[in-house]
Formats: sequence, structure tokens, C-alpha cells
Amino acid sequence: MAEEANTSGNALAPQAHGSEGAAVGTAVIASDAVQNPGLPPHRQRVTDLDPQKDKRAERTVYTLFYLSVAGSLGAVLAYMFFPIETGELSAIRTHTMFVGIGMTLALLAVGIGAVHWGKALMADHESIDERHPVASDEPTREASAEIFQLADKESGFSRRTLVRNSLIGALIAFPLPGITLLRSLAPLDQDPVTLLKHTMWEKGTRLARDTGGATVGGAIKAADVTIGSVFHVVPENLGEATDVLNEKAKAIVLLMRLDEADLKESEDRKSWSYHGIVAYSKVCTHVGCPVALNEQHTHHLLCPCHQSQFDVSDEAKVIFGPAKRPLPQLPIMVDEEGYLVAQSDFHEPVGPSFWERLK
Ligand code: FES
Repeated sequence: MAEEANTSGNALAPQAHGSEGAAVGTAVIASDAVQNPGLPPHRQRVTDLDPQKDKRAERTVYTLFYLSVAGSLGAVLAYMFFPIETGELSAIRTHTMFVGIGMTLALLAVGIGAVHWGKALMADHESIDERHPVASDEPTREASAEIFQLADKESGFSRRTLVRNSLIGALIAFPLPGITLLRSLAPLDQDPVTLLKHTMWEKGTRLARDTGGATVGGAIKAADVTIGSVFHVVPENLGEATDVLNEKAKAIVLLMRLDEADLKESEDRKSWSYHGIVAYSKVCTHVGCPVALNEQHTHHLLCPCHQSQFDVSDEAKVIFGPAKRPLPQLPIMVDEEGYLVAQSDFHEPVGPSFWERLK
């Protein structure tokens, strides 16, 4: 403890284990131990010496707190003025960037302001905090109250009203962007349950390669799908959607071909595949991560988020992990030009459970 070092002026070194004539674990003063240098001389801060500098520091602190308020409000305004409902990638990037800048400014400014307040304005003296038994008797409570009063006096919390009010404003304004973001959880003008239950797939929609983002590659012919190959697939007409990324998130599919002899299909699903080619939703039924790791030899699909595994040779049933339902299967067939097309939408909602899902 600091008091021990100060009292003796020497550092304490433990006695070597098993030394002759000394109890194990006791401490003795070692003559060659490093001396305790003590505290360096106290240097007063410029704000302690110059009232003008104190005032300037106060201005800096409340300016930073107000800057934090501006950042929080800026994030809310950015959310309103750069909407993401268009679904365009550029709009989403602009939205994310400005909301992020606002929230960063809010958090940084309040953090820097608080540190500057502590370093430049609050009382600057060293003190020894003596250990004492914790008790809740009357004198202790009175002492606690005195400490609060002293802290209030020394920090200037009550006296420096601009600093105090701007800090309170910053702390009140900071959660606003987070609350505002909740608005994006569901569209106001559409029934979210209907949106969750249907995807863009419908009878005759061609299966096309997913080339990333909002772009769509070429349609896929059955002849292109060799045994063991896997395609990440979206509807060919995805680009016509008003909300491309949301539609893609629901409609994305994994297409693969297995040896027909390996496929276990129930009677009512025998017509859903084409010569061993099967298509399953890529959205994990646990909490919606993309299921994308395929083990060709075992026919297992692995979700990287929580390790759920699905057997694509057996209607994508769950064989391991927290997912509770198989991946929904997209019924497919081939059109007159040999392209793979959907027979219909999925027969059940894709992805995780939600409040109105029946199974
Ligand atoms: S989201 Fe796939 S296992 Fe959790």
C-alpha cells in the first residue's frame, strides 16, 4: 500500500520462500530495493492561474457539449433527408454515411467535452483516499452527503450552469438517433406480414445468377448445372423491384445439383426438382443469416452464424444446430428454352419465425 511505502521510505520486498529463520509470506525491507520516489511536485494548471483561461476552457467544454447536441440532431435530420426507402445502393450509402457522421460527432464531442471538463476545470489536487470500513450509520451518510456537496462545489456542476445544461442536453439528445432508426423496422404504408410471407418468385420467373449488390447476372440453363455445382440465385426480374435489396434478401436462393439417387423426396415434392437440381432459400430459418457453406460430399449446408446444418439431399431438414425448421424449397422446372424457372413462390415464408407465421 502507498501508506506503507511512504512511512518507511523504502519499497517492500517479500521474503524468499523457504528462507532460513523467516516466516514464509512475511515482508521485510530489502536494503537494495528501489526507493519510493514519492509524488512529483504539484504543478498548477493554467486554468488555476489565469481566470481568462479558465473561462476559455469553460467555453470549450460547453461548445463541445452543444456540438454533441448538433451531431445527434444532425443524425436525425440525415435520417429524414436521405431516405433509404428507394432501395438504391447509393441512397443507402449516403444515408448510412451522414447518420454515422452525426452519431460519431455526438459521441466524440460529449466524450472530449467531459474529459476536458475534468482535466481543465475540476479541482486539481492530490488526495489520499483512506480505507475505512463500509457502514451505513448516520455519520457515514452525512459524510457521503458532504462529499457530494464538495464534488458539486469543486466541479462547478451547479455554478457553471451553461456547462451543466449543455451536458444534460447532450445526454438527452444522444439516444434520439437510435430511437429514430427504429422507424426502419417496418414500412408504414404496407402490411409487414404480407411482405414477410411473399417473395418475387412466381410461376415462370427465370433463375438468374446473383452477381452481388443489386445487379443480376444471366439466366441459368439446366444444362449449366453440373453435379456438385452450387449457384447463388435471384429472380431474373429483380431489377424491376421498387425495393431491390429487400426483395433480394427474401428471394435469394441456393441452387445445386445432386445425383438423383441421393435425393430423398416426399411424394408431394417429387415434381419440385429437375433431374437432381434443387433450389432452397438461402435465408437461415434460425435468425436469417445467409446459409452458404456447402459440403458437397455430405450434402450438408452450414450456416456460419450459429452452425445450423441442413441436409439438402433430404428436403433441407435440420440435422444440427439451433434452427428449428428446414430451409423452404423453391419448386422449379425448365421452360421451353431450357432455362430453369420457378413453378411458384415458396410454399411457406422464408427466414426466421415471426409473430404470424403458422409453422
Ligand atoms: S442464423 Fe443460422 S444458425 Fe443462427
